[in-house]
Amino acid sequence: MSSVSHQEKSPLVARTIDDVRQQVKLWKQAGERVAFVPTMGNLHAGHLSLIEAARKTADRVVVSIFVNPMQFGENEDFDDYPRTFDADMHELSKGKVDMVFVPTVVEMYPGEASSATVVDVPKLSGILEGEHRPGFFIGVATVVNKLFNIVQPDVAVFGEKDFQQLLVIIQMVSDLVMPIEIQSVATMREPDGLAMSSRNGYLDEDNRILAANIHRCLQHVVKAIVAGENPNYEVGHATQLLDDLGFLVDYIVVRRQRDLAVPKSGDKSLIVLAAARLGSVRLIDNIPFELED
Ligand code: PAJ
Repeated sequence: MSSVSHQEKSPLVARTIDDVRQQVKLWKQAGERVAFVPTMGNLHAGHLSLIEAARKTADRVVVSIFVNPMQFGENEDFDDYPRTFDADMHELSKGKVDMVFVPTVVEMYPGEASSATVVDVPKLSGILEGEHRPGFFIGVATVVNKLFNIVQPDVAVFGEKDFQQLLVIIQMVSDLVMPIEIQSVATMREPDGLAMSSRNGYLDEDNRILAANIHRCLQHVVKAIVAGENPNYEVGHATQLLDDLGFLVDYIVVRRQRDLAVPKSGDKSLIVLAAARLGSVRLIDNIPFELED
């Protein structure tokens, strides 16, 4: 495998689709179970918790690092998105990862920066994040589908931090009968509650401190709803609070965990989701919760 190198303890680095396929084929021939963790790099403890879960369920772990142009809108941060390959490799060498797939844009999208064939999961993709980021989930579903076809994992691991993305992937795998098990991992947070995210690095010192209020507000909403308070009132109150602190709130909503539909009476597994901007930084967060009978 010419362009694959294996340094001590570091994972193999594959830069082409062929390299990945050849290696995974060997593992599968040896009867090994392969887990896959797709990322856009700039790895933090949240990503590492996915890798840890992958390690526990499989013999081999493949991680991809690819900043996917197809899921960025025209005015979004594709060019500025943090690309920190050396630091990422350092993190991965601690995580017992077997292979890192680091394709170029041309390797993933020969000819164009997007795909002629796209994967759309319209019902789930048109709401919440999809409403605020048109085309985002088509970009995500298409690239994840491609990555699945390249790696052909037995299991793939995603974070609950991006809960709507997780549901889009589960729906895609189910509808397209992909022989891949999807595992999810709870959101990893900073000590003050802020959900870890590559985009947190964009926050200046003051906004970094303010940012933890999203999680505090969501925690308060959950506590109040579980105690029987009116969800609409609590959501309105939380929105106002964030607004007063200088956030531009895109949404705070309470939905069903299963499909992100508006809850009906009797629905017990719920989730509060939020997206808000602080300066030019857009943050998302959520807390799944259960109502008692
Ligand atoms: P990225 O934002 O790099 O996230 C990669 C994976 O890490 C996703 O499954 C995400 O939910 C998970 N993750 C991020 N922050 C987390 C946290 N604080 N705790 C737990 N998990 C966390 O999501 C993407 O990349 C892309 O859309 C991708 C799926 C790779 C497709 O391009």
